[in-house]
Amino acid sequence: MKLHSSGFPVMRTVRTVSDLRQTLQAWRADGDSVALVPTMGALHDGHLSLIKIAQGQARRTVVSLFVNPRQFGAGEDLAHYPRDEGRDATLMREAGADLLYAPEATAMYPTGFATTVSMDGPARGMEADTRPGFFAGVCTVVSKLLLQTGADCAIFGEKDYQQLIVVRQLVADLDIETRIVAAPTARETDGLARSSRNAYLDQGQRSRAPRLHSVLQEAAGALASGAPPASTLDDARRALGDHFDALHYLEWRDAETLDRATLLDRSSRLLAAVQLGTTRLIDNVAVSPAGKTV
Ligand code: PAF
Repeated sequence: MKLHSSGFPVMRTVRTVSDLRQTLQAWRADGDSVALVPTMGALHDGHLSLIKIAQGQARRTVVSLFVNPRQFGAGEDLAHYPRDEGRDATLMREAGADLLYAPEATAMYPTGFATTVSMDGPARGMEADTRPGFFAGVCTVVSKLLLQTGADCAIFGEKDYQQLIVVRQLVADLDIETRIVAAPTARETDGLARSSRNAYLDQGQRSRAPRLHSVLQEAAGALASGAPPASTLDDARRALGDHFDALHYLEWRDAETLDRATLLDRSSRLLAAVQLGTTRLIDNVAVSPAGKTV
């Protein structure tokens, strides 16, 4: 195995679909399977845990780094989204990625690009209410990444739970053969879900942020032990609304379809989004009848 001067294995960077396909064809010729970890950079431990999971799923790991303009709405932070490819490349190489795929926006969406992949069903409501166009942007770029790589599997974090279900629906609807692997949410020791956006929190906001997870856990525990859903959800909404600058939503949904949950007879999930200063935080936990939450 070739080693970089840092002592870690060499990781190549490609920026075009033809270079990507050339590398992947050579791996395929050697019989190697391929896992894709799609990212927008600003890597943190959550992304590194996705790369570790990818290594257990396939012989080769490709990490894509593309800050997808199509999933940012007006007034969102595209221009200020943290970009440091050198730092990200070092972290992914150290985590064991084999290839960084970092296309330019003009290569991904050349002049004349005219296709949008949009979705109903799980792509309605929750994130879509506050971020119109977000899932069309995600579905379009994820379709392209899966078709460009032809990966055997792709790893998506449960942190963005609605996105995970949307991507599962996408591959089922479009007959894309890539297997979607869900990765558990990586958390700080106080429970806050790891996210690139946590970097925007000041000290005071950072100390308030973990309440999102604890309220979700308390409500999931109450639902799991048979508390009445309507008042449990109302109480949790009040607790989040009082603690944060705004509550965008708190929803109890079926874990596979994201339809509204009403009974505990299927696996379900509590999902929420709140505003803390200028930062939007999202999180979710499983509700299990055995009283166990994650
Ligand atoms: O979750 C993300 O980082 C992005 O939505 C994704 C899946 C890389 C698509 O741009």
